[in-house]
Amino acid sequence: MTLEPNKIYCGDSFNLCEKIRDQSIDLIICDGPYGVTQNNWDRIPSIQEFNLDLIKRFSKKLKEGGALYLFGKPDCLDFIDYRPYLNLKSKIIWYQPSRLAQGRQSYTNNHDIIGYFIKGRKPRCFNLDDIRVSQLVELEHRRRCENVPSVTNGQYGKTRFNKNGKNPGDVWGDIKQLTYKSKELVSRQALNTIQKPESLIERLVLASSNPGDTVLDPFSGVGTCPVVCKRHKRNFMAFEIQPEFVEAANERLDKLEQEQTAIAFSYGT
Ligand SMILES: C[S@@+](CC[C@H](N)C(=O)[O-])C[C@H]1O[C@@H](n2cnc3c(N)ncnc32)[C@H](O)[C@@H]1O
Repeated sequence: MTLEPNKIYCGDSFNLCEKIRDQSIDLIICDGPYGVTQNNWDRIPSIQEFNLDLIKRFSKKLKEGGALYLFGKPDCLDFIDYRPYLNLKSKIIWYQPSRLAQGRQSYTNNHDIIGYFIKGRKPRCFNLDDIRVSQLVELEHRRRCENVPSVTNGQYGKTRFNKNGKNPGDVWGDIKQLTYKSKELVSRQALNTIQKPESLIERLVLASSNPGDTVLDPFSGVGTCPVVCKRHKRNFMAFEIQPEFVEAANERLDKLEQEQTAIAFSYGT
C-alpha cells in the first residue's frame, strides 16, 4: 500500500511511517506522547528513548533541510544523542502562565518545549515574514535595545525596527492553551492532553513549509495540523491510532472544505 497525501490514516504511526518514501517529506510535526498522563497511548517507560527512536525513524523521511518539530516536557530530550540524525536549532518554550500552580515542593512546570530540528545544516525554508509578531516595546526602549552590541563579538548589528513585526523568538507566551470556551475546541475530551491551538501549529507550518509542500503529522489527534495545512495549501499526511479522533478530524476537514467552497463561490471562482 502506498500512502496518498491529504488523508488521515488510522493506525500506529511507527508502522505507517515505513510506507513513506525516504526523503520525501518537507516538514514533520510530532505532537505525540509526553509520557506524563494516564492515557494508554501516553504510558511510555522512557520518553527520551521513545523520542530518540522517533527521531531516528522519522528523520529518514525528511528531505535535506527539512524541519522536524517535537513537542514534550522540558526533559524530553535529556541525555539522548540525536545528533547523528538531526541538528537541534532551537528549543522553543511554549509558556502557559495560566497553568494551575499546584507544586508545593518545587517550581511548577508551566511550559512545554518544542524542539526545532533540521536535517543537515541549512533549513529548506524559514519564512520569517509569515510569522512576525507585533513589536511590544516602547519607542525609547526599542531605540536603546537596538544599540546594544552583540554578546559574541561586541559589534553593533544592523538590526532595524521592522514595522511588520519581530521574530517571535524562542519563548512563546502569546499563544494560549485552549479552554472550555475556545470556539475551536472539538470536544471536552480533547482539552488539555489532546488538542493544540491552531495558531500554534500555524506558526510552525508557515515558518517551515511552502505552499504545495508535504507536511507529516504522525500523531494527528483531532486534526489540528491537517486543518492548518489545508487552509494554507500544504499537502498533509497524517496518522492517528484512535478511530474516534480520526472521525473528529475528518469532520473538521469537511467543515473547512465547505467554508472554502462557500468563499470561492462568493468570489465567483
Ligand atoms: C497530543 S495528541 C495530538 C493532538 C493534535 N496535535 C491535535 O491538535 O489534535 C497525541 C495523539 O497521538 C496519538 N498517538 C499516540 N501514540 C500513537 C501511535 N503510536 N500512533 C498513532 N497515533 C498515536 C494519540 O491517540 C493522541 O491523539
